[in-house]
Amino acid sequence: METIKIKDAPQHVNERVRIGVWLTDKRSSGKIAFLQLRDGTAFFQGVLLKNKVAPEIFDLAKHDLRQESSFYVIGEIHEDSRSKFGYEIQIEDIQPVDESEDYPIGNKEHGIDFLLDERHLWLRSKKPWAMMKVRDRVIRATYEFFADNGFTKIDPPILTGNAPEGTTDLFHTKYFEQDAYLSQSGQLYEEAGALALDRVYSFGPVFRAEKSKTRRHLIEFWMIEPEMAWMHQDESLEVQEKYIAFLIQKLIDDCSEELQILGRDPETLRPFTETPYPRISYDEAINLMKESGMDVQWGDDFGSPEETFLADHFSKPVFVLNYPKSIKPFYMKNHPTRDDVYVCADLLAPEGYGEIIGGSERETDYDTLLKAVKDAGLDEKDYEWYLDLRKYGSVPHSGFGLGLERFISWVTLQDHLRTTIPFPRMLNRLYP
Ligand code: 4AD
Ligand code: MG
Repeated sequence: METIKIKDAPQHVNERVRIGVWLTDKRSSGKIAFLQLRDGTAFFQGVLLKNKVAPEIFDLAKHDLRQESSFYVIGEIHEDSRSKFGYEIQIEDIQPVDESEDYPIGNKEHGIDFLLDERHLWLRSKKPWAMMKVRDRVIRATYEFFADNGFTKIDPPILTGNAPEGTTDLFHTKYFEQDAYLSQSGQLYEEAGALALDRVYSFGPVFRAEKSKTRRHLIEFWMIEPEMAWMHQDESLEVQEKYIAFLIQKLIDDCSEELQILGRDPETLRPFTETPYPRISYDEAINLMKESGMDVQWGDDFGSPEETFLADHFSKPVFVLNYPKSIKPFYMKNHPTRDDVYVCADLLAPEGYGEIIGGSERETDYDTLLKAVKDAGLDEKDYEWYLDLRKYGSVPHSGFGLGLERFISWVTLQDHLRTTIPFPRMLNRLYP
């Protein structure tokens, strides 16, 4: 008899197998007991018929098995057209492994704070399970996309002395005698990488001590940061939309079940596999909003209402180009004909999900960049190595950062980023 995983049940129809499982729920009548089972690979049902199993096994199933107890089931795999999974096991025998204590998460509604306190257990439930599958597929698709398009993965350090995204939300720590920060972004290191390897990307955790408590902000999140040498901003936008369309296509192809568990009909994602995405300038965006009666001024940074308005206007992801310098970081390329904006773009997701990508062409001129470093109030000593990149064969280069959790929360229609990451770090949450 073979020991298998639930997900492989379709290949074992009418075979007698053994599967290690946990109990998620059960119900029974006089002659039949139904066990809802999971093994980490899938969820399905086990059926016990009173007249087909030993009395003590039927009794065990009916009375003693507790939610999240672990055991082996032995029985025959049958097709089950009534269930979504399509297969069930007709159980002949049960071999207990561990009896669960009173499991805190019941098959009922719980408050979000309670569930987050129990996140280490909540991960076993169906929606978190589906979410982790989606997240894994997006990560794998990311590696596929960049490998297929000539990128080399370069891992930036986590402990660093620089602050590319501003000094207000840094996590400070001592690095022996020196001061250090947890990385806000690997970008500056990716720029060094691009000048060495042409097209590079990083994928890793970044940290922002954001005091704002919003559904779009995590303290620790994961970012994908590509950087491309010999590339201007227009071409970078093409890479960005192709990448997003590729991720969505992979989810439609491989995760339709998981998307449905999470409440997203995969077909509603299909329009977003079509590129190009619309592009508008920041100036045009401001005018559009003013025309519709919104209270905005040129120079304002966009918050959630502005981003939602813009993406709704296009019902597609939309690139907003050339933001005012005052609201963007120092490393962005100065505009060739205007001194009030940078050559940059954010990609805003539709359906109210806001900014998912921030990116720009990078300033290549040594003196311009040095001045920008100083104007940003940064210590030029910490950026000498970065300025060096403009001394030895500086070339046009561009890059961007995709917030993994922002992207996933959009495609799975979550109302908060906290459900898209295994163990969220938020303003008031370091546990578990
Ligand atoms: O716009 P940001 O700050 O850009 C950068 O860090 C650049 N260095 C990227 C680059 O050009 N290489 O962040 C990029 C993306 C945002 O568009 C958003 O999706 C996500 O990271 N993000 C966050 N996600 C979760 N929680 C937060 N606190 C986030 N802050 C930014
Ligand atoms: Mg941004």
